[in-house]
Amino acid sequence: MTDVKLYSGESIPLEMHKAKIIQKLNLPPIDHRLEAISQAGNNTFLLKNRDVFLDMLTDSGVNAMSDQQLSAMMIADDSYAGSETFYRMESKIQDLFNKKFFLPAHQGRACENILCQVFVSPGSIVPMNYHFTTTKAHIVLNGGKVEEIFIDEALEVTSSHPFKGNMDITKLEQLIEQHGAEKIPFVRLEAGTNLIGGQPHSLENMREIRRVCDQAGLLLVLDASLLADNLYFIKAREESCKQKSIREITREISDLCDIMYFSARKLGCARGGGICTNNEEVYLKMRELIPLLEGFLTYGGMSVREMEAITVGLEETMDDDMVNQGPQFIDFMISELQKKEVPVVTPAGGLGCHIDAAAFLPHLERTEYPSGALASALYLVSGIRGMERGTMSEQREENGEETLAHLELLRLAMPRRVFTMSHIKYAVDRIAWLYENRNLIGGLTFVEEPKILRFFFGKLATTSDWQTQLVAKFKQDFGDSP
Ligand code: F0G
Repeated sequence: MTDVKLYSGESIPLEMHKAKIIQKLNLPPIDHRLEAISQAGNNTFLLKNRDVFLDMLTDSGVNAMSDQQLSAMMIADDSYAGSETFYRMESKIQDLFNKKFFLPAHQGRACENILCQVFVSPGSIVPMNYHFTTTKAHIVLNGGKVEEIFIDEALEVTSSHPFKGNMDITKLEQLIEQHGAEKIPFVRLEAGTNLIGGQPHSLENMREIRRVCDQAGLLLVLDASLLADNLYFIKAREESCKQKSIREITREISDLCDIMYFSARKLGCARGGGICTNNEEVYLKMRELIPLLEGFLTYGGMSVREMEAITVGLEETMDDDMVNQGPQFIDFMISELQKKEVPVVTPAGGLGCHIDAAAFLPHLERTEYPSGALASALYLVSGIRGMERGTMSEQREENGEETLAHLELLRLAMPRRVFTMSHIKYAVDRIAWLYENRNLIGGLTFVEEPKILRFFFGKLATTSDWQTQLVAKFKQDFGDSP
């Protein structure tokens, strides 16, 4: 909540919840961190959590759950078929999203797998505001191609555009004209566009996309994994929605799409996923794959306890104080970093705080993975685990050439209701120190490079002994402090 006035005049994101269960944290000394990051091949995905102080890798499956969610988990109905838990979840989906048919799946990418197996075939073109790593991988695996039709502002790191996640409507029309609707199995809109810094789309833009899809007879698919943040931004930034409730905005968004899928590791703050639609034909096509790939139709690979938690979590997402917590903390962190002149993505988005690694490390070539190098360096000097979201997260071309990412970002995810203000201040302080010492940071090169989704398992080496020098400077400035 930011509308509570303070005597000092300061504006802070005041939490409307309190901690009831905590997890002890560990901040290992810098020499230990050097050892840990080397063993992890400079890939923060490969760090052990016991070596991490603040885990800002992702908000996936790690948002804090509420007391209501935890208590709901205890009344889960453990049956393989026909579980009462499923009907509660289905009924919540029908209530919030007004979609009759619901297919459970174990997480977001499982939904993508099913969607792509059913709809994408060799030669298919899938237009979208922006790709997500797993989405693109599934489309490509099924022989399709992703066409990103973002607005020009999407790739402007610093901008004041409130909806950088919007789709460019003219480009969408041109794309349909150019390829023909037959080649397009569906149009995909991603709420809270992940890879460009958690940037939202507007409701107005979605109405326009719907209009174009109707004209061309195309299905509109919404990836609602990051819907919670997007709902907050629509209410906060879209003039015509200021008086609407989160529930009303949710309903308008879901009524505009034919199919909605989500990772409940994000939306609903538990672990799972699902696809919903009102189109029976589409539902029946996808339904066949659920028992084959996920599990029986009334659990789809999820634990019934998680399903109960998702059901409560979805309802809790209709609360302003819930959806605003992440974005407001991120906004606070972004403005503190801006005061220290650290290059960040603006306007502040959802999901996490995004640092512009290309501007942070202009002396590095893009093929030396500046975002990966920055993620490795930040862990080294702070114990904070962020995620590379740049060229390392792309896949090489068939001929072995690098696909340079549009943006080189270091993402510091802000799992909801997990971190406190002192954690944020610590993070800002260490990042500011690193920025002052940025010239010490060097590049990375792959030593083990998987072909698909290489950022998950790939291992990299430093291109020089820059980490030893960074550690020496750290000790000089901070002495024995971890
Ligand atoms: N779509 C979006 C927009 C996502 O952010 C994610 C996951 C998925 C789909 C896939 O869902 O992980 O449940 O299979 N994003 C995570 C992240 C991995 O860290 O941003 P999943």
